[in-house]
Amino acid sequence: MTHRFETVDAVREGLRSVDYLADESIAGVAYLADRLAKPVLVEGPAGTGKTQLAKSVAEMSGSRLIRLQCYEGIDEAKALYEWNYKKQLLRIQVEKGDEDASWTEIKDDIFSDEFLLPRPLMEAITADDPVVLLIDEVDRVELETEALLLEILSDYQVSIPELGTIEAKQIPLVFLTSNNTRELSEALKRRCLFLHIDYPEMDREKEIVLTKVPDISEKLADQVARIVRSVRQLELKKHPSVSETLDWARTLVLLGIDHIDEKDAIDTVNILLKYRSDIDKAIKEFSSNSPAHFEETSA
Ligand SMILES: Nc1ncnc2c1ncn2[C@@H]1O[C@H](COP(=O)(O)OP(=O)(O)O)[C@@H](O)[C@H]1O
Ligand SMILES: [Mg+2]
Repeated sequence: MTHRFETVDAVREGLRSVDYLADESIAGVAYLADRLAKPVLVEGPAGTGKTQLAKSVAEMSGSRLIRLQCYEGIDEAKALYEWNYKKQLLRIQVEKGDEDASWTEIKDDIFSDEFLLPRPLMEAITADDPVVLLIDEVDRVELETEALLLEILSDYQVSIPELGTIEAKQIPLVFLTSNNTRELSEALKRRCLFLHIDYPEMDREKEIVLTKVPDISEKLADQVARIVRSVRQLELKKHPSVSETLDWARTLVLLGIDHIDEKDAIDTVNILLKYRSDIDKAIKEFSSNSPAHFEETSA
């Protein structure tokens, strides 16, 4: 069996080459997932790069990304496959005109490959080319649907009553993401490698900002990362995510700010935080901690 990645470092470098900054544990789990042919369950707060990780792994390994976006009420027909009823009906009408066609013949005909509409899970399993399967926000599906996922991720096969069992041509690299709105079943967790992605350390967040925000100075990226870290230490309803850090940094660059002073921070904090009460707390923090946040450093 061939592997996608040679070493953990190669994963990290590969991800960096597509602008995803991974730490040791992220790169390590992606490496193991490939070696052990196991799905990865990625959990953590919103906006910390869970979805992006799967996309970036696909990009760096030259695999096709197939995404199943989960939502409440998603069922087998949307996740796995469904029959193309319209096309089946049309065929029945045509064949009924033919006196020789028996019902059994018609049935065999309309429940064949030709009338099957593959959905993401089936598409991933039957693909010939290398695939990364992203099952995004899996915590939104009902428990029964979770069981369906488990079945597919355990056996890498699908049984279709009318057609028989379809086996995987290859084992795709699978990432499931969860924002933890509910506990997932023990069975699903057991099947997966587990990766918790938290807010990045200050240095990694600075690197992410430097990578993703064109024309930002190192000094400003450093200050942004420092201030965001201190804001995350406050008791807030919703902490700023990496996407919000990036939005804030882009805003500052657009405004031509190269060094954030207290007024700049207060004027733009609504990019970072989305609740009135959180904004008030941050403003209080900026006012009381000004020297530490806003002094010019020699970085
Ligand atoms: N480690 C990282 N390296 C580069 N960009 C990142 C990283 N983590 C997060 N981001 C940025 O943050 C954005 C939000 O990430 P996303 O994957 O959508 O979050 P999640 O799925 O965890 O809610 C991404 O589009 C990406 O630009
Ligand atoms: Mg996501």
